[in-house]
Amino acid sequence: MVVLGIESSCDDTGLAVFDEDKGLMEHIVSSQKHIHANFGGVVPELASRDHVSKFIPLLNELLSKNQLSLKDIKLIAYTNGPGLMGPLLTGATFAKTLAWSLNIKSIEINHLEAHIFSPMITEKKLKPPFLSLLVSGGHTILSSINSKLQHKILGQTLDDSVGEVFDKVARNLGLNYPGGPEISKFSSKIEKTPFKFPRPMINSNDYNFSFSGLKTHVINQIKKLQLNDKVISEISLEFENSISDVLITKTLRAANENSIKNIVISGGVSANKRLRERFNNEKNNDIFIHFPNLSFSTDNGAMIAYLGNLKFKKGEYDNSLYVQPNPSLSL
Ligand code: KG4
Ligand code: ZN
Repeated sequence: MVVLGIESSCDDTGLAVFDEDKGLMEHIVSSQKHIHANFGGVVPELASRDHVSKFIPLLNELLSKNQLSLKDIKLIAYTNGPGLMGPLLTGATFAKTLAWSLNIKSIEINHLEAHIFSPMITEKKLKPPFLSLLVSGGHTILSSINSKLQHKILGQTLDDSVGEVFDKVARNLGLNYPGGPEISKFSSKIEKTPFKFPRPMINSNDYNFSFSGLKTHVINQIKKLQLNDKVISEISLEFENSISDVLITKTLRAANENSIKNIVISGGVSANKRLRERFNNEKNNDIFIHFPNLSFSTDNGAMIAYLGNLKFKKGEYDNSLYVQPNPSLSL
C-alpha cells in the first residue's frame, strides 16, 4: 500500500512515498532557509505561500521518479501539529483535498510523534518500548514509549527548547539561521576551548530541563568579546559540550531509573555531530542508542508517511477537518 506523507509544519516542505513491503520509496525536502535567512527566523506568511507553490511540483517529481500515478496512492498522511498555523493549514488542505478527490483516506499525524518514531524507518528491528529524547526547534521532551506506541512524558524544558537556544546563540555569533548546523561547523574546527559554561539542572532531582539561563549566559559572554573565527569556534564547542552534558546525563539517568535499555534521540538537534558521537560513546551491553538516519533528523515527509502507515494498520484515520497548532503528546 503506497502512503503519501506531507510535512509542512514550519519552513520545510517534505513529501514522501512509503510502501509497507518496499519501505521508504523516495522522499524530497524543499527547504525555505534562503527565504527566511534575512529575518533571523521563520516568517509564517512567507512559509505558507512557499508550501502552496511547492506541493504539486514535488508530488509530480515524486510520482514520476518512482513510476507511480496518483491512483497508486492509497493513503495520505499529513502533519496536523504542532507547528505554525498557516503552514499547517496549507498541508492539511492539500492532503484532504487530494484524498477526497482520489476517494481515499487521510490521516493526521502529530509531528512530535513522527520525529520520535523516525529511527524505525531505517532500523527495522527497533520497536517500542524505548526511552525517547526529542530535541527539536520547538520542543525538548524526555518520554517513555510503550509497546502500544503510547507516550508518558517524564520531563521537558521549562523554558527554551534546545534548538531555539542553538538558533539564538548562533544569531548572536553572527551566524545564519538555522543556527545548529552553523555552530556545529565552527565547533568541529577545534578540539579545546578555554570557556566554561554552566550545565543547567544537570543534578536536579527530576527529568526537566532549562536552557534559557545558559542562552543568556552565552549571549552575555559574546557581548564582551571581539568575535573572530577562533573565538566563535571556542564558544560553539563549549556550548555544544554544555548542552550534550545535560542531555546525556539526564537521559541516561532516566533510562537507568526506569529500567529502559533502548534510547531513541530524534528531532532537528539530533543531527548534531557532537551530540551523536557523545551519546554513541555511552553505548554498552545495557544501553542501546538509536538515532534517525541524518536526513530524517530534521523535518521531512518520510517520518509522516511512515507513522501514517503504522497508525493506519492500527485502524486509525481522519475524521475531522481541524489542525492543531499545539497538540499534546500524551495520548
Ligand atoms: O525538528 P526540526 O527540523 O524542526 C522542528 O520541529 O522544530 O528542528 C529544527 C532545529 C533548529 O533549531 C536547528 O537549528 C536544529 O534543529 N538543528 C541542529 C542541527 N541541525 C538542525 N542543531 C544542532 N546541530 C545540528 N546539526
Ligand atoms: Zn520537527
